Amino acid sequence: MTFFAGSIAEVTQTLRLDHLPTPFLYVDLDRMNSNIDVMAAAARGLGVHLRPHAKTHKVPEIARLQIAAGATGITVAKVSEAEVFADAGIDDLFVAYQVVAPAQLERLARLARSVPLRCAVDSREGAELLSRAATDAGLELSVMLEIDLGIGRTGVRAGVPACELAQRVTDLPSLKLIGVYGFRGFRGFAEGAESRETWGRAEGEALASAAEDLRSMGLPIVEVSAGSTPTALPAAGVRGVTEIRPGQYLFGCANVVAQGVMRADEVALFARATVISRADDRVIVDAGSKTLSTDESWKPGLGFGYLASDPSTRVVSVWEEHGVLGLGESAGGLRVGDRVSIVPNHVCTAVNLHDRLVGVHDDRIEAVWKIAARGRIQ
Ligand SMILES: Cc1ncc(COP(=O)(O)O)c(C=O)c1O
Repeated sequence: MTFFAGSIAEVTQTLRLDHLPTPFLYVDLDRMNSNIDVMAAAARGLGVHLRPHAKTHKVPEIARLQIAAGATGITVAKVSEAEVFADAGIDDLFVAYQVVAPAQLERLARLARSVPLRCAVDSREGAELLSRAATDAGLELSVMLEIDLGIGRTGVRAGVPACELAQRVTDLPSLKLIGVYGFRGFRGFAEGAESRETWGRAEGEALASAAEDLRSMGLPIVEVSAGSTPTALPAAGVRGVTEIRPGQYLFGCANVVAQGVMRADEVALFARATVISRADDRVIVDAGSKTLSTDESWKPGLGFGYLASDPSTRVVSVWEEHGVLGLGESAGGLRVGDRVSIVPNHVCTAVNLHDRLVGVHDDRIEAVWKIAARGRIQ
């Protein structure tokens, strides 16, 4: 895959990782490109479309790489994120989020005028609001019905509630119901590949079955969209699933490694940090919660990330500007001024804290991307 040079600056070939002041996030470009290609090939092999969740990177140039490798479009959560990607020419967007505020509905409808866009609904009130916004804008909005997959978040229960809501969406003016989707994520997984397979298949089957219920009412459901990084491939193997939306597969992080979803040598994003202090039992780096985020580990007790060179050395606690490393096998040798690479727990929340992403090949900086959709929470 050819590498798309960054939008902020095409940096010189001689600038190296340790020429930049810490802390910052960098991407191993070879690994990222491999992760993009592997997921695209897997989706192709399973006969499903790939619509990666762009909240993981928030960078239009990376979305373009995903699309060049075979993704059909991208998923975003917020209207403001969708605007950033649309402005950058990404033109097939799924806003997988319940948009209900008047100002955001207006923006959503405005956006739908210029780019192919689908939006989400899980309530009658939400459907009515979308319908009114679309009618006022004089257009038709494509709608995906979110099915509740049991994680205690959004979604309408499959069965009678989903059928009633689907009928309501169909009856409302200016809405076109095109599919169902759901998100299960990793919460509640037991460890191990078998569990992921089971949960992933169950996710795909729940969505395919919800789609069948709606088709039996005569509704033309064409899209059945499933899957986060842990569940995407098992869900994609279920007959009837048409699309997957993994996000974190792009970079990996400590949580997906702990889940066994990706190997440590597939992780592509790191926080570069400097040792600023040390004591007998701890090493302090300049990457704290403002660099790594405070998202906790999937497995209790694993802290806030690990040292890429020695996964037994973990960030055991964070202050805003300080990360405290518990001494693992190699931390004993760390000295003040040493630079280290840390794998954060959750890549999406870490990326959201930064303005720039540095792309690195063999220690050489090849691009600096603006994280254009960071902080877009409205
Ligand atoms: C609706 C939806 N789809 C897909 C994803 C992607 O999940 P992951 O980043 O674990 O791959 C998310 C993540 O939060 C999501 O909320």
